[in-house]
Amino acid sequence: MTLPSISVTLDAKGQSRYAIEALDVYKTYPGDVTALGGVTLSVLRGEIFALLGPNGAGKTTLFKIALGIARLTSGRVEVDGLTASDPESRRRVGYLPENHQFPSYLTGNGLVTLAGRLRGMSGSEIHGVAPGLLDLVGMSKWADREIKTYSKGMLQRVGLAQALAANPQILFLDEPTDGVDPVGKIEIRQLLQKLRAEGKTILINSHLLSEVESIADRVAILDKGRVMKIGSIGDLTSRGSQYEIQADLKNVPIAFPPEIGRALSISADTLALELKDGQTINSAIDFLRSQDIAILSVKPIKISLEQSFIETISGCERTKL
Ligand SMILES: Nc1ncnc2c1ncn2[C@@H]1O[C@H](COP(=O)(O)OP(=O)(O)O)[C@@H](O)[C@H]1O
Ligand SMILES: [Mg+2]
Repeated sequence: MTLPSISVTLDAKGQSRYAIEALDVYKTYPGDVTALGGVTLSVLRGEIFALLGPNGAGKTTLFKIALGIARLTSGRVEVDGLTASDPESRRRVGYLPENHQFPSYLTGNGLVTLAGRLRGMSGSEIHGVAPGLLDLVGMSKWADREIKTYSKGMLQRVGLAQALAANPQILFLDEPTDGVDPVGKIEIRQLLQKLRAEGKTILINSHLLSEVESIADRVAILDKGRVMKIGSIGDLTSRGSQYEIQADLKNVPIAFPPEIGRALSISADTLALELKDGQTINSAIDFLRSQDIAILSVKPIKISLEQSFIETISGCERTKL
């Protein structure tokens, strides 16, 4: 079988620019369930990248393939420059699974110690770093209590600490704030920003739009196993061809030449404009200037990530999320 090749871009250290790359990945589970139907995406080193999508979109399946837990049907996934089926690729990876059930008799400290030992750390190594990790996630106070006494938010926090045990450079976090209260969510967000500042790459699965909007550098919207949209939050929330122009419009109707675009709404000082395909905002500005209209500001019209998501998902004939 010939594998599709990934064109690797190397940085100054000779490393792939990408922490994770997926190329045309298909996954069919027994029973003919197509979980992934040709997913292509790449995650840059040092960014927070979110896979956003309704339940069943295929987010967890892509994680499992990248982590060597599930096998892809066709395509290719690379982690840290190595194919995902290579155990070496997991050396620098931390994982917080979705719906995890850590042994309830362990303490928080015991869980982090176990994770470190499983990753090949010596007892003294992990004992050296465990207190710092538990402190990082705000769990020092409860480190010696059994997990069975923890709330969902505390479980997610020790879950993050165990994922960080062996100081991984790439983190896979599957629904990290699931069940966490609002304050806990803010704390987790701040923690992830801190980890990104340390240079870690963070891949998050989430169905929570506001969370993703506030933290991710880039997002891929997945639905029914396909990437529907991919880009920065800015890309996903701007309507590429719509602008709001503030200008001294003198209450005179503006008729743009149809080859430039059309006014969606107009008041004495604000104009919403939709450019015709392929036109740039410059042509509209030139036209307004030729009409002696003084322009005060020009900005792209933004929508919320939620609206972008709904439009993306409903665009593929989905009515219920
Ligand atoms: N082990 C499995 N066997 C059969 N079908 C599965 C299995 N795991 C997931 N699926 C199916 O694959 C699809 C994608 O699931 P999943 O990757 O868990 O999505 P998400 O994480 O976006 O909610 C769903 O239709 C789900 O029912
Ligand atoms: Mg999932």
